[in-house]
This record gives sequence, C-alpha cells and structure tokens, in this order.
Amino acid sequence: MRPKKALLATATLAVALTAGMTMALAPMASAGTTLKASAAEKGRYFGAAVATGKLSNSQYVGILNSEFNQVTPENEMKWDATEPSQGAFNYSGGDRLVSHAQANGMRVRGHALLWHAQQPGWAQGMSGTALRNAAINHVTQVATHFRGKIYAWDVVNEAFADGGSGGRRDSNLQRTGNDWIEAAFRAARAADPGAKLCYNDYNTDGINAKSTGIYNMVRDFKSRGVPIDCVGFQSHLGTTLASDYQANLQRFADLGVDVQITELDVMTGSNQANIYASVTRACLAVARCAGITTWGVRDSDSWRGSDNALLFDGSGNKKAAYTAVLNALNGGSTSPTTPPPGTGVDTTAWYVLVNRNSGKALDVYERATTDGARIDQWARNDGAWQQWQFVDSGGGYYRLKSRNSGKVLDVYNFSTADSAAIVQWSDGNGTNQQFRLAESSGGYLRLINRNSGKAVEVQGASTADGGNIVQYADWGGNNQQWQLVRVG
Ligand code: XIL
Repeated sequence: MRPKKALLATATLAVALTAGMTMALAPMASAGTTLKASAAEKGRYFGAAVATGKLSNSQYVGILNSEFNQVTPENEMKWDATEPSQGAFNYSGGDRLVSHAQANGMRVRGHALLWHAQQPGWAQGMSGTALRNAAINHVTQVATHFRGKIYAWDVVNEAFADGGSGGRRDSNLQRTGNDWIEAAFRAARAADPGAKLCYNDYNTDGINAKSTGIYNMVRDFKSRGVPIDCVGFQSHLGTTLASDYQANLQRFADLGVDVQITELDVMTGSNQANIYASVTRACLAVARCAGITTWGVRDSDSWRGSDNALLFDGSGNKKAAYTAVLNALNGGSTSPTTPPPGTGVDTTAWYVLVNRNSGKALDVYERATTDGARIDQWARNDGAWQQWQFVDSGGGYYRLKSRNSGKVLDVYNFSTADSAAIVQWSDGNGTNQQFRLAESSGGYLRLINRNSGKAVEVQGASTADGGNIVQYADWGGNNQQWQLVRVG
C-alpha cells in the first residue's frame, strides 16, 4: 500500500532528526512558559523550599526568581533556628527570606511553628506544663514577629503516627495533652489573624489510616470552631502515586479547608515525570487546592540526596519532570482518573501491540533508550521494548509508555504531515504524545494522535521486520489496526 511513500518518509525522518530536537517538547503558543505563570493562569501558586544561604548563588536565585512565586524556608523558621535558647529569638534567616520574597512578588509559607523534630535542645529536655507553656509562647512570639508577612503557616507539622493506628505520634508535645494542637492553632490565630493556618504531614498521599486520622481531626476542629484553614500534603513520593491521591485532597477540601501540596519531591526513575504531572493535575482538579511547592529547586539542593527528586538537575537544567508539570499546568484541570473508553484498556497493565496486516509487534528499534529513537515493527518476542503501558492524559487520550525505556510514543516535532516519523521521547504529556483509541472490527484499534488527528501505521503496509512506524491520515487500513495483547 502506497509504497512510494516509503522514500518520502525516510527523507522526512532524516530531516526531522537533524532539525532542532527541543521543538518536540515545546509548549503550546498561548500557554504560560514558566511554572509560576502557568500556575497563575489556573489561579494557583508554584513554590519551592529555599535555603536562605543559597540566595547568593546566582544560578539558584535565577531559577527561583523566574520560575517560582512562593517560597518556604527549608529550615530557617523551625524552632531550633528561631529560638535557640529559651526566650532568645533569632529571625535573621527568616527575615532575609521574607525580604527576598517581598522584593520578588513571592508569597511565603511559614514552616513550621511546632514539630517533634528540629527542636532546640532546651525544649527537647522539657515536659509537662513547662513544655506546653514554652511551646505556646514560641507560637505566639514567632507568629507575631512575622505577622502580616506570611501567606500560610504550618502551625503543627507531622503530629500523626505512621502505620495503621490513625492516632497521634508519640512526642514530648503530645505528652503535654491531646489538646496541644488546638492550643497552638488558637495561639497562632491570635498572633497573626491574616495568615492561613495549616496542619502539615507526610504519608498522607491517599486515603489511608494516617490521612483519615488527620481528616477526623480537621472535621472535629471545624465543628468546634478551632481555627484551621488548610491542610498541607508534603508529598515526598517514591516511584508510584496512590490512585486516590486526588480523591483524598478532595475529601479534605470538602471539609471547608484549602489543601496545598507543600513539599513535593519524587524519586527519580521512568515514572518521575508522570507522577509530577499527575500530582499537578490532581491539584488543578480540586478547586480548593491553592498551589504546589517543591522541596527545593535543583536535584543538588534536595534533602533526598541521590534521589534526583526535583524539577531541575544539578546544573540547573529543566528535566522531563519540569516539562511534564508545565504541560499539566497548561493543559487544564483534567482528572488523571478519566475512565478508559469502551475498549477496556487497563492503565496498570503492559500490552504488546500486534499489527493486523503484518502480525508483527510495535517495537523500539534496537531496544534504544534515547529520545528520538525510531519505532518499528518486529516479530513478536514480548521483550520489554515491545511492551507499552497506556498512561491516562484525560479526555480519552493516552500516552504509550515503553516498558524498557520509560519514554513515550511521540509524533516527531509535532508534525501534522502524512508519513511523519513516530519516535520515542521523554514523557512531557504533549499533545503529540497523546493518542485516542478508535475501534475497528474484530477487537482491533487505531491510535489517533491528538495533535495531528492522524493514525499510527506500519509504513507502506510493510510485513518485514524493521518496517517503519509513521502517522498517516486515518483511513482504517489493516496496517493502521492494532490488537492489544496484555502481557503484564
Ligand atoms: C528537612 C530539610 O530539608 C533538611 O534540610 C533538614 O535537615 C531536615 O528537614 N518534612 C518537613 C521538612 O516538614 O521540614 C523537612 O525538611 C523534610 C520532611
């Protein structure tokens, strides 16, 4: 079929691969081009934890000022930093960060008034009424000092236990009495009535015993008039994301508090960009999700050592995760859990895609793991380079992620032309990486690209190993039809 297209497409591929590679991930023209601008278009802020000492690093501050419009002091407002000896306060680091924020139009999240960790030695040695009084005095003094300058305070940090109990964490503060948290919130409200008051914690990324314990506390506070305005979800994440992440945010929002993603970082790996994008979309989908803060700027700034968990690499370059977040911010408030169409695709499964005409499988040529690598067909062998996962982009569109490379199918350079090359590329959730499933007869599907409207086909209806995969106008030919064979 159309054999003379083969030459044309080969030429197209050659030209395309020598053209500017960065174009493939370029955002849409009308959309924002920085995290803060794109978040602002959606009524959200985008922030970072900042170590005040790094404000003298020009690369660091350059990224901070151009991309972020909210800062959280990484350590400078904690108890050990602000009250190193009892009753003697030191606000130098916090003040410096606040003035940088004010000079650059950034809001400040205060972090954290009371916490079991990073207490000064003198407080660690206290208990009972003396500790309770010292703690409440600390809240009052610090919140008063920064009064009017803080968008939201983490009044209490990490007070709930991990695991299945749903109860409080044991700590010297908890042993002063279960009402220590509400006492802290009341003191903070009195000291700075303009700041939103948050409870902040980790391992609360889905509906689980710990998040439910916090949920019950917030519900109780709301019913009794204890002042609370927001809940922070730290979101220090591994290589998977709870499927009910968004639902969990929503149930808190439904209690009448804002929710905020306060310390986001994600373990490096093939899923990093996806998880960042999913968290972003979840926040956009929850009206009361006010914004997102990553816990640092560059990988080298992260408290997570070699996890490479942030949006910029150690040299300050934007990572695929950055592009994924930016595209998600620009893409609207689509739910990441849009149900698959009637074709019954399981987004947790791995599929081999077998072409109806050739019987061969969609294959990453020579098992490449690089951006721009060519996609071909090859005799089915079920190798990881022939396995694909459907990653939900919302609106009935999916990326097809290679199990071997972690990259996704991509119409090279956003081409809309017939015979344009299909390659693999880092997942940026671009519209040229999104495909909808159109049903043909006999359980076969066509994959229609969101950007071009064209179908994924075996070029020239080749039946040979190595036959090239391109896009072409959707005409329903057997070389455009694929069977999804679940293998994992
Ligand atoms: C971390 C800082 O990033 C480190 O520099 C410090 O040594 C320890 O604390 N949860 C929190 C943050 O609420 O305050 C922690 O920050 C990370 C976990």
